[in-house]
Amino acid sequence: MLSHEDNELLTRTNVGTPMGDLMRRYWIPVVFTDQIAKPDCPPVRVQLLGEKLVAFRDTKGRPGLIDERCPHRTASMFFGRNEECGLRCVYHGWKFDIHGECVDLPSEPEGSNLQRKVRIKAYPCHEQGGLVWAYMGPAELKPEFPELEWTMVPDSHRYVTRRIQECNWLQGLEGGFDTSHLAFLHRGTAGTNRRVVPSQYAVVPTEFGFMAGTGRVQKEGEVNWASNLMCMPFHKVFATSPEAAHMWVPIDDENTMLYSVDYWPDRPLSEEYLERTITHHGIHTENLPGTDIPIHNKSNDYNIDRDLQASGESYTGMEGLGVQDAGIQESMGPIADRSIEHLGVSDTAIIQIRKLLLQSLKDFADGKTPPGLDPVSYRARSTRFDLPEGASFEEAIKEQLKRDYGSVAAE
Ligand code: FES
Ligand SMILES: [Fe+2]
Repeated sequence: MLSHEDNELLTRTNVGTPMGDLMRRYWIPVVFTDQIAKPDCPPVRVQLLGEKLVAFRDTKGRPGLIDERCPHRTASMFFGRNEECGLRCVYHGWKFDIHGECVDLPSEPEGSNLQRKVRIKAYPCHEQGGLVWAYMGPAELKPEFPELEWTMVPDSHRYVTRRIQECNWLQGLEGGFDTSHLAFLHRGTAGTNRRVVPSQYAVVPTEFGFMAGTGRVQKEGEVNWASNLMCMPFHKVFATSPEAAHMWVPIDDENTMLYSVDYWPDRPLSEEYLERTITHHGIHTENLPGTDIPIHNKSNDYNIDRDLQASGESYTGMEGLGVQDAGIQESMGPIADRSIEHLGVSDTAIIQIRKLLLQSLKDFADGKTPPGLDPVSYRARSTRFDLPEGASFEEAIKEQLKRDYGSVAAE
């Protein structure tokens, strides 16, 4: 469990909150590049960390992200005209460029110095990995773009989807590192069989966030460990086939944009794979056309099929991993009340996540540089390996990191 105060601290990301300030020190995904595909295309509404914004691409093809509210009298820039390297508010014609400069102010008398003084809030953008990203922190502290492997491979090697989850970002992140639910919620294989539930859990703090390990005794005297990366502030990278990653990006305190990535570091994803994954497994939730809202969502109880659940064919009666995760995480409320939980050994990773995030916030408040701002640190990889029973996961991970960084240093 967590005190009410700590729960507030970890979950709130609006302007001026400690977690919000910390998160704004990192690059944050905004839209898919093809949502603002062409120069001067229509702008797109975006909400990030409680801030209502508008993304657009200017005449030179540069992406921009500005406040949705016009600084004149707060009309929505979404309705603006995207023309000649700027977005023009259609109420009185004020026009702003991607840097937030007012480049035209036709409603005022010639020579008025209002144009020089007025600005619109604007965030620097960067395009990588099929997404537009923004940096929403203090300009002088902008870090280099993190070297997340999936953002660096050719488009053909990567498949990214996104969907809105109607709950706080931390519920999603915690769900991503909650490994004991797999055998229940997703596979339903556990029942009362304890052997399919992992028996060992460990979290190792790192330069970029942490490595979470889940150990299963697979044969006498040997533990099979899977390690998942948490990269600050909301990334998960995990070893599966193909490789995968998630990002839980706060829209506001009660809604999250979940990005799901599948990729191969060295080859394109096959048509067959995409067909199988998307269409038949339902791993990637299908959204209502033209939206980020899943078809199976809170308003329809995720179209739960009680007959299927009763038959035992499906543990939950909900179709697809993504729907099961969303359904159950949203059922905890928009912001889970962690002060009334009862945590067990299987929640070790969850407890550690909170400790690490709280420590990061404390260090941040003390003026220390947030973890993971060195772009190279994101090159660490998620792995699976066997260790003799009793051998330290922490030691193995430290050696692996040394290996990874060693190769980086050798370049
Ligand atoms: S409100 Fe935008 S120009 Fe007046
Ligand atoms: Fe899950």
